[in-house]
Amino acid sequence: MGELERLDKRLAATGKWSRREARDLIRAGRVTADGQRCRAPESKVGADAPVAVDGVPIGADRPVYLMLHKPAGVVSSTDEPGERTVLDLLGEAYQNIGLFPAGRLDKDTEGLLLLTNDGPLAHRLLAPKSHVDKVYYVEVDGVLDEDDAEAVRQGVKLGDGYACLPGKLELLSDSSAYITLREGKYHQVKRMLASRGKPVTYLKRVRFGPLELDEGLPRGAWRPLTEEEQKAIFSQ
Ligand code: URA
Repeated sequence: MGELERLDKRLAATGKWSRREARDLIRAGRVTADGQRCRAPESKVGADAPVAVDGVPIGADRPVYLMLHKPAGVVSSTDEPGERTVLDLLGEAYQNIGLFPAGRLDKDTEGLLLLTNDGPLAHRLLAPKSHVDKVYYVEVDGVLDEDDAEAVRQGVKLGDGYACLPGKLELLSDSSAYITLREGKYHQVKRMLASRGKPVTYLKRVRFGPLELDEGLPRGAWRPLTEEEQKAIFSQ
């Protein structure tokens, strides 16, 4: 079995994650040791026991970064019984390399989704303090106006009392706009506009940080990020 060492230390020793990131990954249930899911950072594993994050053996993975044009009707997870997932849209070679979506779009939301097996990068892009801009094209039932734009600029208060960070609403027509948010709360755009009495009828993410949805990608299609796009997400 070899010497025993703490699981979080073993992950951090790869240089891919800090001790804190390693602990978060373990607590989130993304780490297996000897094929068993392990949620305790302090648990001891044999030095030669196989350890994997999101199913990818540590030290043996190749990072993969894909841009997907998510269509409506698929869920942003890797495995959900009875649902078609974003992974189902990828080919055979991409099924078992630990890919997961960096963030979530609702089942009925379309647009840009980054899929990767690079946990630390995803973790960094999604950390609330990273404040990565997300831009959505939105259509509503109702008429959007300058009062809505001002409310978004100030930070809309949601039904549960949560005060959103200031965002930006750029009106395109009476009932369509681009909305830019620096956070990603559950159903955030829908809840923000519902609180203005203008329910969302269509939502599509067109930008995620430095990544812009490639309009050449039909719904359901995907491609690897270009080198420039990879550089851009690393310097985000
Ligand atoms: N806001 C929402 O309401 N839904 C999404 O899918 C993304 C942002």
